[in-house]
Amino acid sequence: MDILITGGAGFIGCNAVQYFALQKHKVFVIDNLSRPTARINLQYMFDNNVSFNFTHIDITNRSLLEDFFKRHAFDAIIHLAGQVAVTSSVQNPRHDFDINAHGTFNLLECIRLYNPNAIFINASTNKVYGKLTDHDVIEEKTCYRYRDYEYSGVTEQQPLDFYSPYGCSKGIADQYTLDYARIYNLKTVSVRQSCIYGPHQFGVEDQGWVAWFIIAFLTNKPITIYGNGKQVRDVLFVSDLIKFYELAINNINKISGQAFNIGGGKTNSLSLLEFFNVLETITGKKVIYSFDTWRPGDQFVFVSDTLKAEKIVEFRPRISYKEGIQKTYNWLLKNSGHVVTSKIKNNKNDINMYLHESRKIC
Ligand SMILES: NC(=O)c1ccc[n+]([C@@H]2O[C@H](COP(=O)([O-])OP(=O)(O)OC[C@H]3O[C@@H](n4cnc5c(N)ncnc54)[C@H](O)[C@@H]3O)[C@@H](O)[C@H]2O)c1
Repeated sequence: MDILITGGAGFIGCNAVQYFALQKHKVFVIDNLSRPTARINLQYMFDNNVSFNFTHIDITNRSLLEDFFKRHAFDAIIHLAGQVAVTSSVQNPRHDFDINAHGTFNLLECIRLYNPNAIFINASTNKVYGKLTDHDVIEEKTCYRYRDYEYSGVTEQQPLDFYSPYGCSKGIADQYTLDYARIYNLKTVSVRQSCIYGPHQFGVEDQGWVAWFIIAFLTNKPITIYGNGKQVRDVLFVSDLIKFYELAINNINKISGQAFNIGGGKTNSLSLLEFFNVLETITGKKVIYSFDTWRPGDQFVFVSDTLKAEKIVEFRPRISYKEGIQKTYNWLLKNSGHVVTSKIKNNKNDINMYLHESRKIC
């Protein structure tokens, strides 16, 4: 298959490119490299002879995107390019809207006009469900949990409640994606992703918390917990997410026009405090952290119910959170060990410093 991955130099994208290239698909990437660490991922793939075709395109640039689609037709498009942080969306909602809402709309229009047979997988988010105030939560010693022990998590039946500019822009993209299946008969799916983590994730304080806490720990940076650390998330190792993309592509006739909640589910849920326990067990060292006030829109608990995906396409997460955190830690230690220990330690600009020193890639 010819597979286009937008945002293919990002965290999930870089993992997806490597996976689909290994499966002998012809992989195309578009990315504007606006995320500084995208260059590290791109360089890594070039250095490791991953076979893919890269084009520097900003998805907000409609005419460039149209030219690109006039020249290529794809069997499947996995749309990962995006503005990814809630906090940045609050600071600059127009920028967030331009990329997530308008950028996705540009892509859908290109597909409708030039590539209507392509399968379109949109990376959406659990943030489309808002604060979930209709869910009763109780506080325990190290975590919050849903009051109902039997409750397996949030299903796709949960009413949408866009919260924060990021929630709104991703929610718009999510709804347009589904509507283009209804109205134009395109083959589209929206994947409402929980917290995804794994190799190639250069998390920062406001996005990608699993990787961020590991990087902060390795670089002796102060670790701040916003809230009391008992907030719970279901976490999904990136290879399991990519397996879902593949299942979605292979089963598109069954699932076109539908949304799926994809996360680690109840068995891969943990609070921040519980995460630090895992990290301490892995490293044998104490994690030092402090507390600050809650951030807007932060849910006490979010756990996805992935039963729909399990029933229809036989999706099941394979990597437990303990195994996944260990793998992520090992990767960050090995692949950015020289960054975190020798360079970042003495430099306030941390990863950016490494970027400026890394070889030029394009
Ligand atoms: N990582 C998660 O936990 C998570 C959870 C829910 C949803 N998502 C969604 O999954 C997608 C991928 O997330 P990620 O964690 O890999 O993020 P990432 O920031 O690592 O990757 C996004 C990529 O998109 C590129 N990009 C940004 N704006 C662009 C533009 N205008 N044109 C072209 N490229 C652009 C960036 O350079 C980057 O390489 C995003 O849409 C995100 O909202 C991620």
